[in-house]
Amino acid sequence: ASRTVLEKKKIVITAGPTYEKIDPVRFIGNYSSGKMGFALAEVSAQQGAEVTLIAGPVSLTTTHPNIQRIDVESAEEMYQAAMTAFPGADAGILCAAVADYRPEIQAGEKIKRESKGEMMLHLIPNKDIAASLGAIKREGQVLVGFALETNNEATNAESKLKRKNLDFIVLNSLRDAGAGFRCDTNKISIIDRQGETTGYPLKSKQGVAVDIVNKLATLLK
Ligand code: PMT
Repeated sequence: ASRTVLEKKKIVITAGPTYEKIDPVRFIGNYSSGKMGFALAEVSAQQGAEVTLIAGPVSLTTTHPNIQRIDVESAEEMYQAAMTAFPGADAGILCAAVADYRPEIQAGEKIKRESKGEMMLHLIPNKDIAASLGAIKREGQVLVGFALETNNEATNAESKLKRKNLDFIVLNSLRDAGAGFRCDTNKISIIDRQGETTGYPLKSKQGVAVDIVNKLATLLK
């Protein structure tokens, strides 16, 4: 990759998990570490982009001066930050593992154990950030999504690509060793709007980020 394939482009990136509060001490979350999204932010900045990194709760740090980081906790906060940042951007890369549901009620005090009875949590849907950005995408803006799958990978990924109005989708499968959550490597395929699929070998998340950024650059002329 040339060092300037994204020169002066404004890129919004979501990364990490979201936490959906149950009460002041508990939440619903997932295993995303933020490594893939932070690698995308670093590589984009190294290649000349001005990055807005919207990060869920992770323990990673950012160093590049061209990364402006916005820390959020819940899907709703991530949605608000993304909807604010995307209209002024050239591209969005949605790498966060966003909770699809949240508890309808967030208890104000710690929930106590009630004898031996069962406990029910009622969940309501969160907004789909990718689909919401896809719906306001302007001519010339490029929107990239991820699909994290465990089965029927290609079919599920293609349906997300269309439903969320993405320009391409990065598929990673938990069936591949060394891919997905937490590890320092990933194995991806990129599926574009023409239905064309390109497979890549297992690489470091930095290397994967370079492949994704190079693909993005071809669409950002
Ligand atoms: O953070 P790491 O530990 O490095 O792990 C990286 C990763 C596995 C989290 C990453 O590579 C990845 O696959 N991210 C997307 C995870 C995900 O939630 O996939 P999904 O198939 O459920 O969602 C599809 C797309 O819609 C994603 O772009 C997601 O960001 C987006 N989405 C989903 C739900 C929602 N409410 N809003 C969204 O924007």
